[in-house]
Amino acid sequence: METELDRQPAAESVFERDASCVMKTYSRLPVVFVRGKGTRLWDSEGREYLDFLAGISVCSVGHCHPAVVEAIQRQSETLMHVSNLFYNELQSRLAERLCNLAGMERAFFANSGAEANECAIKIARKWGKARRGPACYHIITLEGSFHGRTLATVTATAQPKYQLPFAPLPAGFRYVAAGDLAALDRALDESACAIMLEPIQGETGITVLPDEYLQAVRALSDESEVLLILDEVQSGMGRTGRFLASQHSGISGDIVTLAKAVAGGVPIGVCMAKGSAAQTLEPGDHGSTFGGQLLACAAALAVLDVLEGEGLMENAARTGRHFMAELNKLAARRPNRIQEVRGRGLMVGVELKDVDARVIRDQMLKAGVVINAIGERILRFLPPLTVTLEECDRVVTALEESLDNVAGGK
Ligand SMILES: Cc1ncc(COP(=O)(O)O)c(C=O)c1O
Repeated sequence: METELDRQPAAESVFERDASCVMKTYSRLPVVFVRGKGTRLWDSEGREYLDFLAGISVCSVGHCHPAVVEAIQRQSETLMHVSNLFYNELQSRLAERLCNLAGMERAFFANSGAEANECAIKIARKWGKARRGPACYHIITLEGSFHGRTLATVTATAQPKYQLPFAPLPAGFRYVAAGDLAALDRALDESACAIMLEPIQGETGITVLPDEYLQAVRALSDESEVLLILDEVQSGMGRTGRFLASQHSGISGDIVTLAKAVAGGVPIGVCMAKGSAAQTLEPGDHGSTFGGQLLACAAALAVLDVLEGEGLMENAARTGRHFMAELNKLAARRPNRIQEVRGRGLMVGVELKDVDARVIRDQMLKAGVVINAIGERILRFLPPLTVTLEECDRVVTALEESLDNVAGGK
């Protein structure tokens, strides 16, 4: 019997149906991807693409890695889901492995980055109130941050453009400029329970927070007795060449959140904590029907096997160094087009000059390379961690050609 999956869609019909019945929360690019393998994607017309976006930092072990496919197949034939009212062996194994890698003690499983951050926010509020009374619930976040789209996490996301249509927003969040330690110090009064930040701000253009700043933030949180929440939803899982981006800076959070790449494309979110933060939630405080279910955990355990077994963090460090060095050489050749190359490992941004990043993204797509544009000026590169040096070179060449094609040339 033919199923929905057997039908090869004609791209135009997909665009039309989508336009008529899917909420317009995304400005989609006109491609229907139907198949993926490793660093490659194929569209409905059979065209091949080199994927330097990996589902926005999700498909880190590459598309359809055989170990992940096999784990999902086996688990789906055995048992896909049990309620969190019962023990789940895979969930406890995954919690143990992730906590070991992240230097944490306990994990809560959810289904997305926003949900992982919701859990972190709830822990911080309960922890703060228990320490300093009912007024201690404020969380300080950084301007230009991105923590998710639920009401609490969009409020943590210190960007009015995401917030204003949805006011009134939940109380309890304050914002300071990234890098401004004096402002952070002032914000850390008796009513503050936590600081929450991304070590590398991903959605706002791959802004790497300096090591010294992160170390000073860690010291300030200790002095002020507040929790430090590290949102590593985009930067974690080996993307930067270490398991967590914060490990480059030699700091550790009290709470760390992960999602995206954890289960290789199966939805999952993780909130990990240590010390008193790890002991804060009690039965009845928090929960999730799907969080940490067997299928997602089986996929995630396979992802960790691949990450460690195939040395993907080492590969991310090595290929990321090469990629950024080649991009910097390109920046030197095209000083009128490239303002800055920044990032860590395979989390890389290129800030353009006098050229629209969306035009370059579209040209690259036409040339068979998938990347992302953040606003009008920044290109974002988040390839699978399996990427090769040659693939990095190919993308640099495609970028050079695209930059030279836009009006005004070199
Ligand atoms: C740093 C960070 N935190 C949280 C989120 C939200 O994750 P999700 O879309 O899975 O809710 C994202 C998504 O891009 C992110 O980059």
